[in-house]
Amino acid sequence: MPLVTSTEMFKKAYNGGYAIGAFNVNNMETIQGIVEAGKECNSPLILQVSAGARKYANPVYLKHLIEAAVETTGLPIVMHLDHGADFESCKSAIDDGFTSVMIDASHHSFKENIEITKKVVQYAHDRGVVVEAELGQLAGIEDAVNVKAEDANFTQPDEVCEFTQKSGCDSLAIAIGTSHGAYKFKPGQKPQLRFDILEEVGKRLPGFPIVLHGASSVPQDRVAIINQFGGKMPDAIGIPEEMLRKAASMAVCKINIDSDLRVACTAAIRKHFAEHPDHFDPRQYLGDARAAVKEIVKHKIMDVLGSNDKA
Ligand code: G3H
Ligand code: 13P
Ligand code: ZN
Repeated sequence: MPLVTSTEMFKKAYNGGYAIGAFNVNNMETIQGIVEAGKECNSPLILQVSAGARKYANPVYLKHLIEAAVETTGLPIVMHLDHGADFESCKSAIDDGFTSVMIDASHHSFKENIEITKKVVQYAHDRGVVVEAELGQLAGIEDAVNVKAEDANFTQPDEVCEFTQKSGCDSLAIAIGTSHGAYKFKPGQKPQLRFDILEEVGKRLPGFPIVLHGASSVPQDRVAIINQFGGKMPDAIGIPEEMLRKAASMAVCKINIDSDLRVACTAAIRKHFAEHPDHFDPRQYLGDARAAVKEIVKHKIMDVLGSNDKA
């Protein structure tokens, strides 16, 4: 099976009350860990590439690694551009064979967001590619964007119909209290998501796939390993998994996970070096990192997303 778009995946996920995991990829071991998990769980997958990932690994390498994932697993896999900053970045990904792109124009005015998204949609749809847009702004840090908590704003349900109709986007990322990175809530703060907004958006856009960014749970056992073996990640806190399960049973069809993979890799590598100070073959510690990614992705698919046996 060649690379696919998310259209069919989202239809099934919406009707089945589950979500597809969208995992960020930067290197071979991460891709292998994710797709080995997907294969064992018979799950569709979205492999997403940020601007930072393209810069780090070289777009050509990532594209061929993802194509290798498709070839070796036969799974339905979407190659998605994460947080496309402008029309040119989206165009470049579409021209390179991506089957899905995100245009993140959420920091522009409502009107400009529609105009920019619409331009990407026209170019993408003419080439059989689907488009995710964003309305509302998440807090947190990615390579390309750093939004302070006080500048984040929740999606306004009143705006979603006009936005999706005028822009023509295929899925919509909304802001309901998730944020990027490993420090999503302050210690002592009760993790909360605005399920009332999600519910209202679902009512206004029946059948329309909603996307959650910043949806890592930051597993505390892995954070403890990092801190035990020389790391310093005090107070790293993510989204409770039961909240993600609830979102997946509602209109959310795509759940973005990056920080959890980073934490899993780092914990595995730190532990490896602490236990084997004599090792210097990268295959030894990167092999552990790959196994850790596989384990966490299997857990997400089976216990959080519910996308197992849906390929
Ligand atoms: O939301 C963004 C992803 O976590 C990608 O992060 O920009 O550091 O590659 P990055
Ligand atoms: P996390 O930082 O919560 O993993 O979010 C990743 C993400 O939204 C990628 O677009
Ligand atoms: Zn994101």
